[in-house]
Amino acid sequence: MFDHYKVPYPLVYNNINSAEFFSFTADLLRWNELKNDRSMPWKGEKDPYKIWLSEIILQQTRVEQGLSYYEKFVHHFPTITDLANADDEKVFKLWEGLGYYSRCKNLLATARIIAYEKQGVFPDKYKDIIQLKGIGPYTAAAIASFAFNEPHAVVDGNVQRVISRYFGINTPIDTTEGKKMYQQLADVLLDQENPAVYNQAIMDFGATVCKPQLPLCNECFLRNDCQALALNVVKSLPVKEKTLLKKQRFFHYFILQYEDGVYIHKRTDKDIWENLYEFILLESPVEYDLTQVKNQFAALIQHNVAEPLWSSKVFKQTLTHLTVYGQFHRYKINEPLKDLSAYECVSLDRLTVYPWPKLIQQFFQEKATLAQLF
Ligand code: ADE
Repeated sequence: MFDHYKVPYPLVYNNINSAEFFSFTADLLRWNELKNDRSMPWKGEKDPYKIWLSEIILQQTRVEQGLSYYEKFVHHFPTITDLANADDEKVFKLWEGLGYYSRCKNLLATARIIAYEKQGVFPDKYKDIIQLKGIGPYTAAAIASFAFNEPHAVVDGNVQRVISRYFGINTPIDTTEGKKMYQQLADVLLDQENPAVYNQAIMDFGATVCKPQLPLCNECFLRNDCQALALNVVKSLPVKEKTLLKKQRFFHYFILQYEDGVYIHKRTDKDIWENLYEFILLESPVEYDLTQVKNQFAALIQHNVAEPLWSSKVFKQTLTHLTVYGQFHRYKINEPLKDLSAYECVSLDRLTVYPWPKLIQQFFQEKATLAQLF
């Protein structure tokens, strides 16, 4: 079964030889058969649309969180054509809470291309799948292998961690050299005859045994050949070159009420939360400069006299590269705004229809009900 494993030279990291490749794959598949009881609705799925959907949801989301979203999407849109025909707003509302909305935007764009330009037929070759919007090498390899049994190895953070520990590789995973090396190794380790089973097995192994924190080394099927375990460096692998320095942004939301409506607008700029809704936003460059922000707000609403009611505590949302802090300020006016064309005044009982960023949802939840809020 493994005689087609060719080591693509130069690939002699830590003097790895083909026998070690052999035992990695064999032990992983043995673990999968005997011990892997992870059950997920997309496991064993052959419909490329559903596989694609699950992979896009799981791109930046934990399995436990992604499950209900996957079920919701499959329920509302059983086929790619159903998704393509859906209103943007409905799809974004269903995506609410998952974050990284560019995934949702690309999902819709790709569904429409496949439905309207490819007769609803999902491409069945890796080289065509990877051309689709929002699909990178990892997702393309997952779809090509799970749906069409094409021999392409998935490589994500989980796979890099497993490989880096097993072979004792300390090349940083976030460098060009590292990315190339882990992809090459993964390609060699792949079971060419059962790529679907192998790819799912390595993902499950990384998620449940070779975990980032508290890996289950004592009961690991691969422990006898694990270099990191032998050298007692499991916790320090994999290595990352850049430790991410998170930017901070400070948002002040003005919830301005006129009669039974509040002013909201859709974020359309190429920025975080594109296509989501928000109240009147003033961004402060520094952590806390409330006086200046309130002056800006007064200038924004010009001649209108706004009555301040209350300000909320500061809420926080953490994104990969960024932490957003947000505070809400509630005001009332007696005349409608004239010059704020970017904002529309919508009735309070329609607020839940719109998709909101998590930061604003947190605020809604804290207030428990919208009735309590206003
Ligand atoms: N993460 C990304 N894809 C996955 C899959 N198919 N199963 C489990 N976790 C995943």
